[in-house]
Amino acid sequence: MTQSILKGSSKSFDRKDWSSAYQNVPEELTNSKLKIIKGSVPSTLKGTFYRNGPGQLERNGQWVHHPFDGDGMISSMKFVNGEVLFSNRFVQTKEFKEEVNAGKFLYRGVFGTQKKGGAITNAFDLRLKNIANTNVLKLGNKLLALWEASNPYSLDLKTLETHGESNLDGILKNKEPFSAHPRFDPGHFGSKRIVTFGVKTGPKSTIRLMEFSNEGDNSGVLLSDRKDTFNGFSFLHDFAITPNWSIFIQNAIDFNPLPYLMGRKGAAQCLSSKNNSKGKFLLIPRESGKYAKESPREIDAPEGFVFHHLNAWEDKEELILESIFYNDFPSIKPNENFKEIDFNNYPEGILKSCKINLYSSKVELKTLSNQCCEFATVNPLYQGLPATHSWMASTENKTGNAPLQSIKKLNLKTGEECFWSCAPRGFVSEPLMIPEESLVEDQGWVLTIIWNGKKQLSELIILNAENLKHQATLELPLAIPHGLHGSWVEE
Ligand code: CO
Repeated sequence: MTQSILKGSSKSFDRKDWSSAYQNVPEELTNSKLKIIKGSVPSTLKGTFYRNGPGQLERNGQWVHHPFDGDGMISSMKFVNGEVLFSNRFVQTKEFKEEVNAGKFLYRGVFGTQKKGGAITNAFDLRLKNIANTNVLKLGNKLLALWEASNPYSLDLKTLETHGESNLDGILKNKEPFSAHPRFDPGHFGSKRIVTFGVKTGPKSTIRLMEFSNEGDNSGVLLSDRKDTFNGFSFLHDFAITPNWSIFIQNAIDFNPLPYLMGRKGAAQCLSSKNNSKGKFLLIPRESGKYAKESPREIDAPEGFVFHHLNAWEDKEELILESIFYNDFPSIKPNENFKEIDFNNYPEGILKSCKINLYSSKVELKTLSNQCCEFATVNPLYQGLPATHSWMASTENKTGNAPLQSIKKLNLKTGEECFWSCAPRGFVSEPLMIPEESLVEDQGWVLTIIWNGKKQLSELIILNAENLKHQATLELPLAIPHGLHGSWVEE
């Protein structure tokens, strides 16, 4: 270990190690048995760990402007009898196939990727490329690759073969937005559900809230469906649920579409936080809860920009929402190279809780941890309920922005923390918590895929959820770029 990469120093990572994960995935594998490098796979883990994220970032020498513009690739890791079988497939979207055939980018990306030829080629080309790269969800008998601005793509649960764009058997209109952030209701109304939404935005925004059964023969059946319209532009990436409410933060942002129309910026590069102005909590009653059929409520939210929430819960007349706040909307400017960004110039994600009084509309804001984090989760059985424990990806250092190199467990009541770190040369992704049957809140396993900068490949890491003790490292036969979201499907 050299001086410059000492743990805990201001340089706990080498940016080249971090950016070296951004490569095109060279091949598709089927049921490749993963090599166990260290430890053992718990025999109680039975199911499939699905992940989504960009798998193709460059065509004909041109790189995407932002990794979020990369074409989706699904990985599946099937846990059977202490072994793990790995498969991966690119989501064969219509646009992906066209670009493969052409050998170049034919579409602009939301986060700034432009077609070659400058503004003249890009101006007024407002076609959206469905990149299906954000999350992967089992809904009924379908495996869906999700991208929030359009219909999901349906894949084969076992082979990951792409069936095609899905309107969920007629539930969605053609190209209707369908969020990449479903929430799993563990049984607030007697059986498991998947709650999700779609948002159509403009000067007014309409949120469609949908609840699907996630249990037994009814799995995948639409149970409730409501639409509510709010004033103002909305960028709603995620939301949270409690037994009675679904909770959104309508961030205070401006959208100036001119540079997008003129072919100079991607649509998301035209978003910026409105100075000194507050967002809103949009509280939409759940159709099976005690406020069903009531109108939504709007309450002023603190300043800041939120992509992701940890959890939400109810305490008499109060709602508590735990979210990761940024000072501004982070976007990569047209002249910047995403692989060379200076992390110090980007806002860090800080976990905060908002206690919202439903009657007085008073909001109390509290910082839960000052350390930069992302991808926070509770035990899935505590979704919508007061949880004590949370797990998240965090930076190595206690302050400032940097790549995510640690998995952190945070006790939300006492502030007690514990860590597993792969710094200085390793980089973590979203952790998933898989509870054990014991029903003790923090008993189970944490799964995450890391990028090993030294070996130049990806690894599957299994940690003990209670104390983050290392359980196993499995080597992936592929280099997978830093990914987005995933899910666990019980056997
Ligand atoms: Co997300």
